[in-house]
Order: sequence, then structure tokens, then C-alpha cells
Amino acid sequence: MKKVNLAVVGATGMVGRTFLKVLEERQLPIENFYVMASSRSAGSTLTFNGKEYVVEELTEHSFDKPIDIALFSAGGSTSEKFAPIAAAHGCIVIDNSSQWRMDPEVPLVVPEVNPEDIAWHKNIIANPNCSTIQAMVALKPLDDKYKIKRVVYSTYQAVSGAGLAGWKDLENGLKGEAPKKFPHPIANNCLPHIDVFLDNGYTKEEMKMVNETRKILHNDNMRVTATTVRVPVFDSHSESINIEFEKPFDLDELIETLRNAPGVVLQNNSQENEYPLAINAAGHDEVFIGRIRRDESVESGVNLWVVADNIRKGAATNAVQIAEEIIKNMQ
Ligand code: A2P
Repeated sequence: MKKVNLAVVGATGMVGRTFLKVLEERQLPIENFYVMASSRSAGSTLTFNGKEYVVEELTEHSFDKPIDIALFSAGGSTSEKFAPIAAAHGCIVIDNSSQWRMDPEVPLVVPEVNPEDIAWHKNIIANPNCSTIQAMVALKPLDDKYKIKRVVYSTYQAVSGAGLAGWKDLENGLKGEAPKKFPHPIANNCLPHIDVFLDNGYTKEEMKMVNETRKILHNDNMRVTATTVRVPVFDSHSESINIEFEKPFDLDELIETLRNAPGVVLQNNSQENEYPLAINAAGHDEVFIGRIRRDESVESGVNLWVVADNIRKGAATNAVQIAEEIIKNMQ
């Protein structure tokens, strides 16, 4: 397999550090490896594959050296400025921010769902929102078989999705300290507020789920609505997903379809109290699905409970899987 020069931008962050872990675990064929962040952490070191790497400050000149692939997770404004610079130097950027996701020139990819979209990239590929990624792994096989008409998402999202500051708010909040990141205490609380509010009354997180679902499933007319909620859980997002289909379905067949879907682990034995749990999904790369039951209020509908590690499959693992697809196609 061809060895690549690979950079991680935002390597000191929550997702950045997980990029390093996942790249190690999956043994990507790397020749030269670079870690980049802001001037704040430049000069510090990170260990990768048993070797210490000095964090470089990200500048306009960072991509003057030959870098084949850069995994970015350093916020939208950093991606806005530096992804085009990297791309112009021939580096393929896999960007975890929301900056490029809805750009018609930029593929938005979940490798189990729409790997074919990687082919039309112009050196920038977007990694979807964490909540969207895990939902797509569940929805795609069902859309292929029964054609989805409408989706209602209700999410229960971990504080790690808000970075280290979100994590600290829960940790400190449990000790009685006031929040710094969230507008209200997250300890013993649920906040129906993720990202900023928009003119239509939705949050930006909710509209990310709506718009990204349509883009990834290639269906601009799919009816999708979402309520996204931050809950006092450190790791893993949980989602209630209500789906209405165009076609009728047999419940056993639907369950088998999900069981055989790529990247899915079924935990669907309510009789034994077996269903996906955030604490069990944490640290894993699969999407866990359970509580599968017919929605008896419509002609053809189903309810699912879908849980995944938001920092791994919801961010780092998905981006690394995209990198693997690119490297495969370089042969
Ligand atoms: P730094 O550690 O130097 O601040 P998180 O989402 O967990 O807060 O992590 C954000 C990541 O993005 C960190 O690695 C952070 O680096 C990096 N980052 C933030 N702003 C910039 C910037 N302007 N240039 C490069 N990296 C940045």
C-alpha cells in the first residue's frame, strides 16, 4: 500500500487527539507525520506510534512541504482560511468543521453510506456533523429498501461534543460550580440548545441534521425535522429516530436489514433489558441500534434508538475511514 504524508490540524484538541489514536489503531500507511495547532500549543509534543512529534503552529506556509492528506479539526474559521491553502498545494483536506459541509463543490461523506461521493472532491471533503453520521449509518440501508418519506430526530448529546470546555462544565458542574461553556448548568439538566439559534427558531445543530441528511442521502425533498438536546453524559450521543417510509415493510426483515448493515451492531432485545447505552458505545467505532418497533400511528413507520461514540464514529473514525478510502484509490 502506498505510504502517505499526513498532517493533523488541531492535533491538541479533543477530536485531534482521537485522530492520533484512531490512526494508530487502524495502522494507516504513513511516511511523514505532522501535528499542527495554534501558536498556543506550538512547541509542545504529542506521541504517535511510540514517537514524539513537536506541534507546529499552523501558518500559510504549513503546506509548502508535500502533504498528501490533512485531517482538520480546529474550528470553522481555521478551516475557512487554511483548507483552501492546503488544497491549492495539492493536499486533500478532510475537514471536521461545519465550514464546507453544504458547499455544492464539497462532498459530505460517511464511508458506509456514500463512499462514491469521494470521487468528485476538489481537494476538500467534509466530515458530517456527529449526530448526522450515526443517523446516516442507520437510515441508509432502510432508505435503499423502503424509501424514507419523513424523519423526526430527537437527540441526547454528550458534553464531549462541545470540546474540552463542554466536558469541564459537566465535571465542574457535578461539584457545584457554575458553567463556563453552556448558558445554563448541564449537571442534572437537559439543554434544548446546541449551537446558536437561527431565525426559524431551530438551532444550527438541528438544521445541520436536516440539511446534511438530505445531502448525504441525495434527496433534497426528504422531510426531516430535529430537536437536539445536550444531556449530562460525557461520551456518546443517543438518538431517538422516527422514520416514515413510502413502502410497506416487514418488521423482522427490517431488523435483519439493520443487522447486516455495515458499521451497525444490533442490541435489540428489550425482554432482556438489552438496548444501546452511551456508556457501552463509548470507545467503540460502531453504531449501536435497538428498541426497534413499528410506529403504529402511521401506515409505514418505525422507531429506533441509535447510539454511537460522538468523538470516534461521529468525528475522528469517520474522517480516518475517508482517508483510508482515498489511500486505497491512490494505488
Ligand atoms: P490549541 O491547542 O493550540 O488551542 P477543541 O475543539 O477540543 O477545543 O480543540 C480545538 C483544536 O483546534 C486545538 O487543537 C486548537 O489548538 C486548534 N486551534 C484552534 N484555533 C486554531 C488556530 N487558529 N490555528 C490552528 N489551530 C487552532
